[in-house]
Amino acid sequence: MTVPALRPALRDVSTDQFLADVIAGLSDNPKHLLPKYFYDEAGSKLFEEITRLPEYYLTRTELKILRDNALAIAAHIPRDSALVELGAGSATKAKILLEAAPQITAYVPVDISAEFLGNEAAKLERDIPRVAVYPVATDFTRSFELPTAVRGRPCIGFFPGSTIGNFEPHEASELLRHAARILGREALFIVGADLAKDSNSLHAAYNDAAGVTAKFNLNLLARINRELGADFNLSAFEHHACYNRERGRIEVYLASRKRQKVHVASKTFDFRAGETIHTENSYKFTIKSFSALARGAGWAPVTVYTDHEEYFAVYVLKQK
Ligand code: TRP
Repeated sequence: MTVPALRPALRDVSTDQFLADVIAGLSDNPKHLLPKYFYDEAGSKLFEEITRLPEYYLTRTELKILRDNALAIAAHIPRDSALVELGAGSATKAKILLEAAPQITAYVPVDISAEFLGNEAAKLERDIPRVAVYPVATDFTRSFELPTAVRGRPCIGFFPGSTIGNFEPHEASELLRHAARILGREALFIVGADLAKDSNSLHAAYNDAAGVTAKFNLNLLARINRELGADFNLSAFEHHACYNRERGRIEVYLASRKRQKVHVASKTFDFRAGETIHTENSYKFTIKSFSALARGAGWAPVTVYTDHEEYFAVYVLKQK
């Protein structure tokens, strides 16, 4: 079953903006690209594959934390609430909360990938008919409005996957403030964030043996070729990910294997051998550092749930 009534609201970010962002990033020194562009349809599928990799402990651990504590989390949620998920992708994690908390009657997945979102929304309406689904296809880092159907209801923000760690600390703080504004005074915010740990486990999670993460990273160049008519030679770039201990983050790059030129629209970009394009950061937090970040952005931590290895943490935040 599809949800035709919702279709007109689903729209992808404009190609013009994508082109402008790509040109700006490749013109900078050092070069960089925005991680939000990883998630076209191919990228979203590759990311799903990442979440099932043996080395990528994040998703598995977060799912276990959510399952083990679903009822405790549900106890914080008021009647007739709307669950608003930022960067929904697949609704697997939201489903755990929706099933544990029957008082949630609406689900608002907010995601940049319209196609993925449409499919997942349809599936969820089929699986949990009690919940009305109102997908919003937008870049949640920009300001957006909640669908009229959920305005005025208690809103539970949901931001799993340690996506918060993909922002610079000042951007993460701004995003938390922005979420507070959108979700309203009485809101709760459930946020999953990766915990700082030994660098071997971290390194392995972003350098899987099967090479799926490399494929995911390189898909960004493939997407630029597909959508912007660029001529990146994918075999002339390689995936690099390393843990920067001082900054407490994994840094992800695409490195040029040789000296080369790449054309995007009317522009030519020169690459030195070994020159990198920075594509992503993934900040790792201690419970203390994350709580401080949340507090600084107007949210008080109510509870923190973690796994027995303390690999990952799920925070329930309340507006101060
Ligand atoms: N939020 C995910 C993370 O920080 C995103 C991610 C996982 C990712 N693997 C990646 C981003 C590889 C870029 C490259 O873990």
